[in-house]
Amino acid sequence: MSKVDSNADVKRGLEGVIVAESRVCYIDGIKGRLYYRGYGIGDIAKNCSFEEAAYLLLYSKLPNRRALHSFSVELRRRRNLPQRIVEMMRTFSKSMTSMEALRTAVSALAADDPDARKVSLEDHLNNGISLIAKMPTIVAYYYRINRGEEVVKPDPELGHAANFLYMMTGRVPDKTSARGMDMDMVLHAEHGFNASSFAVRVTVSTLSDMHSAFTTGVGTLKGPLHGGAAEEVMRMLEEIGYAKNVDKYVQKILAGHGRVMGYGHRIYKTYDPRARVLKKMAEEMSKEKENMRWFEIGERLEVVMEREKGLYPNVDFYSAMVYHHLALPIDINPSLFAIARSAGWVAHAAEQYGDNKLIRPLDRYVGEIDLEFIPLNKRK
Ligand code: COA
Repeated sequence: MSKVDSNADVKRGLEGVIVAESRVCYIDGIKGRLYYRGYGIGDIAKNCSFEEAAYLLLYSKLPNRRALHSFSVELRRRRNLPQRIVEMMRTFSKSMTSMEALRTAVSALAADDPDARKVSLEDHLNNGISLIAKMPTIVAYYYRINRGEEVVKPDPELGHAANFLYMMTGRVPDKTSARGMDMDMVLHAEHGFNASSFAVRVTVSTLSDMHSAFTTGVGTLKGPLHGGAAEEVMRMLEEIGYAKNVDKYVQKILAGHGRVMGYGHRIYKTYDPRARVLKKMAEEMSKEKENMRWFEIGERLEVVMEREKGLYPNVDFYSAMVYHHLALPIDINPSLFAIARSAGWVAHAAEQYGDNKLIRPLDRYVGEIDLEFIPLNKRK
């Protein structure tokens, strides 16, 4: 028996490692700035619909009126799910979560799509657009099926965000709600080499197809350190209850080396610019609904977390409040993240494919080698 140790430098969690050149997104984690294809997130959040931001991410330029119209029409045209997928979702165990149903349905969609196995830049964009269009339908359908309700078919008159709320509730949303959902989707659409987008790139780098990449993406986004935090935030706010309990709660979590959900970020060492926009929206919605309880907890948490850990809220923190005011159920929060991030996944998949090199890092082996082999019948 002997040991090998190459003494190579290990970057745990790939922290600080630059793995590719990219033109999709720029993040300045020190100054708290974010750009999609060179455009500041403030301008995009204020002016763009999800469709417009998705077009920008996919085609690297802002659409003119005609291009935006045909892109929106294309998304609307592809919203419907094959009946077989709807039937399949009816057979899912009631205990299946929204993200688990989404992961399974996204994968199963490949079976009914003759283009799904095709792999070229054009195919990636084509299949990606189909998946962006269908993900809201999957989430809304499964939500209703799981509650024993009839599904609400997509309405081609409504935009991407408004249609999602319509399929969830069966009611056409008011303008404020539709815009709130839309802006939230825009802010979640892309964020550089985050874990799920990187996972998508790894899958595409093997020359696998887009449905496989999306299945990887949903599976990776599901974890509580990534998209799953969106669900945990609202549960945490409920546990805290009122602003007066914040200090005690944080002390308890930090003493147990736990995590305050919706706080901290691998890249941002300052306030997440998306959280800034969402905070404003959460405040407006809280005032409109005359319910400041969650927002007051948020304000106190900001003070305590900055003081205790030097940490700031990330995108998931205030978005959880926005979802609450939109009357969306807590357990679909990570799926809302996935619906929006789908645009970024397609942009990254296309970029990876366009200049592909198999992603295959190395590890530093610290185990043993040259062990004496013991036959099965002699092992204790
Ligand atoms: N609550 C309490 N402490 C936190 C924290 C949080 N939300 N986020 C980071 N920390 C602390 C860690 O305990 C660690 O402290 P220590 O050095 O005293 O041990 C330090 O900050 C570094 O944490 P680490 O996990 O190494 O940083 P990271 O870059 O790998 O983590 C996240 C980034 C997002 C995974 C992390 O901030 C986190 O778990 N946040 C909560 C989950 C969340 O909101 N995820 C959504 C991200 S958009």
